[in-house]
Amino acid sequence: MNQIDKVKFEHTPVMPKEVLELLSPKPGGVYMDATIGSGGHAKLILEKIGEKGRLIGMDQDSQALEAAKENLSFAENQVTFVKGNFRDLGKIFDNLKIEKVDGILLDLGVSSYQLTSPSRGFSSSEKEENLNARLDMRMDQESPFSAFDVVNNYPEAKLREIFFRYGEEPFSTKIAQQIVKERTIKPIETTNDLLSIIRTATPPKYRFSQPKGQYASNVFRAIRMEVNQELQALEEMVPQAINRLNSGSRLVVITFHSLEDRIVKHAFREATQPANFREQPTVKLLTKKPLFPTNEETSSNPRSQSAKIRAIEKL
Ligand SMILES: C[S@@+](CC[C@H](N)C(=O)[O-])C[C@H]1O[C@@H](n2cnc3c(N)ncnc32)[C@H](O)[C@@H]1O
Repeated sequence: MNQIDKVKFEHTPVMPKEVLELLSPKPGGVYMDATIGSGGHAKLILEKIGEKGRLIGMDQDSQALEAAKENLSFAENQVTFVKGNFRDLGKIFDNLKIEKVDGILLDLGVSSYQLTSPSRGFSSSEKEENLNARLDMRMDQESPFSAFDVVNNYPEAKLREIFFRYGEEPFSTKIAQQIVKERTIKPIETTNDLLSIIRTATPPKYRFSQPKGQYASNVFRAIRMEVNQELQALEEMVPQAINRLNSGSRLVVITFHSLEDRIVKHAFREATQPANFREQPTVKLLTKKPLFPTNEETSSNPRSQSAKIRAIEKL
């Protein structure tokens, strides 16, 4: 990790009070933070479970794990750090020889440090230090598939579809066309190259109506979701997580995108009211409607703005 990235390894945990109320960590319990990031929520969980409790802290980003290790060094004997993707939750539990836990937290999306680390290529900001970052956006830096591959190899129709579906980008068609045009001349290598293409493909009136640099954030988010297969991983994770909860234990999920929330809502509904009437419900809903951050939180932590929490309890 270089010095610039290290300085920015900070992340304010979203909806901390609601997470603790819903997860309800008990002293001496075993919990999993499946997206530990730099350990903001994990620290709060550790405070509740006390010295006899145990936490499994997972992330697919090894830089995040390093930061979490540093931030949680006060409890190093209680935390098992795992580099892995939560879509492989069942296998990860098997490898750790853990059958079930007393609660699982999932806080989706990117963390502030990933967004603000120039070398990771997540940021669509026009700040000088972010420009000319390689188009990367991998949360797992060992993955062979990056934003470069999406932008330079995907067919135009597929680019248009992900910009529209994941990014809700109003100029998806024009941006996809422009990408395909430019990459026949030379590969699109950096965030700066992509920003310049988006600028060419979008009307100035639209761009100037957005806060600085935000005109590109939909497209960047869409590419990030594709690179990391975020929706697919979530879909695979929820049923595995439910399987691995002890009776009375809870799964709490924080989402930041309407498509993520829809996946969680449907998976929870399926577990509370199975479509096959012969199957029994395995969980009860703790949140009929999602919880949102307070106005106070959204003004002090803008990243919380699109957050929603849903939770279930295993029967
Ligand atoms: C919003 S941050 C979590 C922040 C953390 N709750 C905190 O308070 O510091 C999301 C983290 O989840 C990780 N992540 C996202 N998708 C993942 C996946 N499929 N498997 C494992 N980790 C994932 C990201 O690398 C990132 O570090």
